[in-house]
Amino acid sequence: MNEIIRSLKDRKSVRAFKEIPIEASHKAEILNAALEAPSAGNMTLYTIIDITDQKLKDTLAITCDNQPFIAKAPLVFIFCADYYRWYHAFCRHSENVRKPSYGDLNLATADALIAAQNTVVAAESLGVGSCYIGDITERFEEHRELLSLPRYVVPVCMLVMGYPTEQQKKREKPRRFDINDIVHTNGYQREKSDKMEDMLKVRQNISEDAISEYIHKFCKRKYNSDFSREMSRSCEEMLKSFCEE
Ligand SMILES: Cc1cc2nc3c(=O)[nH]c(=O)nc-3n(C[C@H](O)[C@H](O)[C@H](O)COP(=O)(O)O)c2cc1C
Repeated sequence: MNEIIRSLKDRKSVRAFKEIPIEASHKAEILNAALEAPSAGNMTLYTIIDITDQKLKDTLAITCDNQPFIAKAPLVFIFCADYYRWYHAFCRHSENVRKPSYGDLNLATADALIAAQNTVVAAESLGVGSCYIGDITERFEEHRELLSLPRYVVPVCMLVMGYPTEQQKKREKPRRFDINDIVHTNGYQREKSDKMEDMLKVRQNISEDAISEYIHKFCKRKYNSDFSREMSRSCEEMLKSFCEE
């Protein structure tokens, strides 16, 4: 197995960090790795907000569904889908420029996520652990204010990073599904997805008797949850901010 594949296999989310700052050269390499990612039309339709202010980190730890480890992370980056800079440049140099819309948001979101994942891989290679925080897409109105986001700029994901504690290094990585259940050949194979219970039984090592309760509880915790409903409400606001005339 080559070094890169090994690193991808070994990476796991890190949620407790050593209380030491990140070396400046490491931070620079991590951020530069973002820009090396592919982006639609090489437009770089994203902005990375580097959160260095401890008060802001403290606030984000609360607004992102009360996750205190955010406040303790040496690095906190917010990846935003960003059409502001291109749209306004277009307007300065062209007439009848249409407003950014759904397709533009979709591409900008893809750009932001791909860039974010490049930083995760780069960080891992430098011994810097990371964790995505999806909850940055909640409470859009507050985050817009907090981060001075103009129209056509919306948060897509947040990454917290730092050197992992020994306990985190030892923590087992959550198991994955079987690749054959996830890869469908030449079209969607419903029969694969319809055996989700079996997929979960294998991955989570759950008995036939316990699977129904497991799925019921998971639904309650992750899907029918308050945070998930808030995320959907907030994303509707983001859509308006980005796409509405
Ligand atoms: C889009 C996205 C959002 C996530 N949001 C959170 C989060 O808010 N809090 C958290 O502790 N982990 C979060 N995670 C991390 C996942 O829980 C983690 O990736 C998953 O459980 C698999 O574990 P692993 O990364 O250790 O392999 C997020 C991951 C992704 C990709």
